[in-house]
Amino acid sequence: MTDSRIERVKSLIKDHPDFPKPGILFRDIFPVLRNPAVFQELLDVMVEQVKAKAPNVELIVGLESRGFLFGPSIALKLNCGFAPVRKKGKLPGEKESVAYALEYGTDIFEVQKEAFKPGQSVVIVDDLLATGGTMKAACELIQKVGANVVECLVVIELTDLKGRDKVTKPCTSLITY
Ligand code: PRP
Ligand code: ADE
Ligand code: MG
Repeated sequence: MTDSRIERVKSLIKDHPDFPKPGILFRDIFPVLRNPAVFQELLDVMVEQVKAKAPNVELIVGLESRGFLFGPSIALKLNCGFAPVRKKGKLPGEKESVAYALEYGTDIFEVQKEAFKPGQSVVIVDDLLATGGTMKAACELIQKVGANVVECLVVIELTDLKGRDKVTKPCTSLITY
């Protein structure tokens, strides 16, 4: 995306070679959040993208944990609700769950069933798309509760990992590496 606001966001993303493991180049989004002007510009762009790609959105879903940095602010701006996808054991009440693959082993994502209505238009927000396993699982989970994922929005996409190929729903990224 050629947008001077996104260029400013990109300039603040800090690279950490060999974190959390040798061979991984970690792209740290937190320096953006330390700069309120640039963080606000990022949120503005994310809101614009949701308005453009999913004008009928009814619910923003954020993925634990870095998706929680953006989802609620976007939802407030769009005057729609926010619901979390959390790692297992953190949410009370009736839940739906999905297992997903990590680099080593698997984990489980959960949502509260009461947060979703049949056919509801949902936009999923996260900070980063790498292998796509996280976003794929989130899409499956939202489908399981009967809602409809209309868009996936991430700040960063690591294109070499081809995560986009795993995600069957429309997916927008603002910054690619
Ligand atoms: C990171 C990142 C994405 C996910 C992308 O989350 O925030 O959610 O990895 O990876 P994938 O596309 O290969 O599935 P992580 O699980 O490290 O947890 P965090 O958000 O709690 O930091
Ligand atoms: N999550 C998965 N891969 C990542 C990376 N390279 N940088 C930051 N977060 C990540
Ligand atoms: Mg995450």
